[in-house]
Amino acid sequence: MDIWVELSRMGRGGMAGLTSGMTILVLGATGKTGRRVVGRLRDRGVAVRAASRSSETRFDWEDSGSWASAVRDVAAVYLIAPEEPKLIEPFVDQAVAAGVAKFVVLSGRGGADGFGEVFGHGMAEAERAVKASGVAWTIIGSNNFAQNFDEDLWYEPLLTGRLALPTGGVREPFVDVEDVAEVAATLLTEDGYDGRRYDLSGPEGLTFDEAVAQIAAASGRTMSHVDVSPAEYGAELRAQGYPEDVVEQLNAMFDLVRAGLLAEPADGVRQVLGRDATPFAAYVDRAWRRR
Ligand SMILES: NC(=O)c1ccc[n+]([C@@H]2O[C@H](COP(=O)([O-])OP(=O)(O)OC[C@H]3O[C@@H](n4cnc5c(N)ncnc54)[C@H](OP(=O)(O)O)[C@@H]3O)[C@@H](O)[C@H]2O)c1
Repeated sequence: MDIWVELSRMGRGGMAGLTSGMTILVLGATGKTGRRVVGRLRDRGVAVRAASRSSETRFDWEDSGSWASAVRDVAAVYLIAPEEPKLIEPFVDQAVAAGVAKFVVLSGRGGADGFGEVFGHGMAEAERAVKASGVAWTIIGSNNFAQNFDEDLWYEPLLTGRLALPTGGVREPFVDVEDVAEVAATLLTEDGYDGRRYDLSGPEGLTFDEAVAQIAAASGRTMSHVDVSPAEYGAELRAQGYPEDVVEQLNAMFDLVRAGLLAEPADGVRQVLGRDATPFAAYVDRAWRRR
């Protein structure tokens, strides 16, 4: 039985008839979005194969020998792109040959054409490869995650009290990763979203000064955001030991931020979930109060 035919018979939102034995592969399953997508799919009663280098199913982009067991008997894939674009088309081809009928790709706002020369080569290639795959695909184009403040690069600097980034005072409608995961789980399991791109953000733009001030107030810690030049940011990253390619990628991402390309809220959360995106204040309350 084809899962997508079965789901379309049930209509959008209908999961009651989902048969057992249909598996969804979640890549990056230990990461910020992937582990939440795994949880939401399991809550929906869907069989999930959680995959990454350290997950239940070992999957390493750098070891193509690990791909076959990950894609076996899988109906759909949540695809987090590796940095190296060359790996993606062979993986997509192998997955389709194994019977995968749908990809949901996590990408960034702006999309393949808006990333510029330096940033997002993996995400851009993932978008291209699934569009050329001949099977169903949906793209998530996400703003910067709110959880970058407590689960990723901005966390350690924040704990020192000083988060220095080249933001130029531009607003960013940070998206709550809980919303990204809920959207992804919906796109993976429900019908009617194929061949489309959904840009996801929070409901309103905040400057990094405002965002860090909210976190400081909720956590009771002294913290501030300092706006630095790209050259100063690069120098600080190099001093912390980041390799040159990562320095260039991060600076290129903030070039997009300063150009205002990520500044306007997008309505993808409402389009898919039929509700407003989660406010940054709700993320702060959940993640930072009494931390
Ligand atoms: N952060 C943002 O604001 C933002 C916004 C838009 C888009 N994105 C995109 O989101 C993606 C990252 O997603 P995320 O934030 O959910 O993940 P994440 O928290 O960065 O975690 C990375 C995941 O990838 C796995 N991984 C790392 N190297 C791997 C390898 N060689 N082979 C297989 N798996 C590997 C890790 O698990 P193991 O260590 O167990 O392998 C982990 O599960 C990137 O493409 C990024 O560009 C991020």
